[in-house]
Amino acid sequence: MAGKRNKGNPGFMGWIDDRFPATALLEDHLSKYYAPKNFNFWYFFGSLALLVLVNQIVTGIWLTMSYNPSAEGAFASLEYIMRDVEYGWLLRYMHTTGASAFFVVVYLHMFRGMMYGSYKKPRELVWIFGMTIYLVLMAEAFMGYLLPWGQMSFWGAQVIISLFGAIPVIGPDLQQWIRGDYLISGITLNRFFALHVIALPLVLVALVVLHIIALHEVGSNNPDGIEIGDNLDENGVPKDGIPFHPYYSVKDLVGVGVFLFVFSIVLFWFPEGGGFFIEAPNFEPANPLVTPDHIAPVWYFTAFYAMLRAVTFSLFGLESTFWGVVVMGAGIAVLFVLPWLDKSPVRSMRYKGWISKVFLAIFAVSFVILSILGALPSTEGRTLVAQICTVLYFAYFLLMPFYTRMESTKPVPQRVTG
Ligand code: HEM
Repeated sequence: MAGKRNKGNPGFMGWIDDRFPATALLEDHLSKYYAPKNFNFWYFFGSLALLVLVNQIVTGIWLTMSYNPSAEGAFASLEYIMRDVEYGWLLRYMHTTGASAFFVVVYLHMFRGMMYGSYKKPRELVWIFGMTIYLVLMAEAFMGYLLPWGQMSFWGAQVIISLFGAIPVIGPDLQQWIRGDYLISGITLNRFFALHVIALPLVLVALVVLHIIALHEVGSNNPDGIEIGDNLDENGVPKDGIPFHPYYSVKDLVGVGVFLFVFSIVLFWFPEGGGFFIEAPNFEPANPLVTPDHIAPVWYFTAFYAMLRAVTFSLFGLESTFWGVVVMGAGIAVLFVLPWLDKSPVRSMRYKGWISKVFLAIFAVSFVILSILGALPSTEGRTLVAQICTVLYFAYFLLMPFYTRMESTKPVPQRVTG
């Protein structure tokens, strides 16, 4: 019984366990959580995502202490943080670089899931919670970007919020409801601040807890995509499992060390990421009368932005922006249903057929190309490439029920391999 462990024992832990299932929780989630022994490089990114989440929350709290959430004071308060607050520059760069690091880590974490079929039964909910985290993370990053009240903050928000205006009937009202005003103003800044510093982080943390509870209920997948729970020893412990603590807690520390090394190099030498983490126009205060030459979202949104711009046709009397929004939304929505699109009898790419491998590569390459195109001003040629990549992106998902059924797979081993 999970709740009964170590109850009635003398000592401090016994006292606690009589009142709170501390030992039971520590055992179930750490020292007696058996993880497959063949985790590889790709399994570092879950714990790294946790690390970056903590970094964002902690640096965010300290930034909030000196930040002024008003149209009049926001930009100047950022300058104050950068120049006068002790280590304010470090806090700010840890937060902005951290935001980009978050998406790097989460994209690699998601790609791992796609490679090893970690979304497949019985881990559908782990994936759905993950996708919801991704969606909330996008909203969190978008709202955070308005807060410095720079040119790109203002105009980026202007472009994205105006997309809601393309929705028939309710669009214009919805746009106004989001802004809280007839145009992006201090009122918009204030509500984005409230959502960014408290509402969305609370939702994110709650979702991460649900994500990990769901994972620990079904157990971790692994690079071979086989269930270690199918091979138990006489004590009911998976033969291919090792306790998460101390084995993976220590192994993850190596990942943390390497990550912090790379993160520090970027943080101290390239904090603006060559204009990709903080865009150049954002060093000028927001000016509703001057539009920047080229408005592009931060790199982690550019793939979906490229899909939006790739749609150039109008249909059923609805303008291309509307269909662009639909395609962009579908690009994210289709990831949610991935567990039900994959009909393969095996989970891992290691044992899937060549068609799955080729399609996964096509998906990854088109996502990268779209990300690059979305950051550049559009030209006719680039729009054509974006259209081709958008079609290929969707082909990976929409053809999956067919190619995963028809391709022949390799035999899956009984026990995990190296
Ligand atoms: C704040 C963001 C996130 C955090 C802190 C987080 C945390 C974790 C942790 C600690 C694990 C276990 C360790 C590991 O397998 O790497 C895990 C597993 C997993 N996560 Fe996430 N995650 C996040 C976002 C996501 C997203 C966006 C997705 C996908 C849409 C996702 C899908 C998965 C899947 C499928 C697994 C199981 C992998 C396996 O067992 O092979 N996660 N996550």
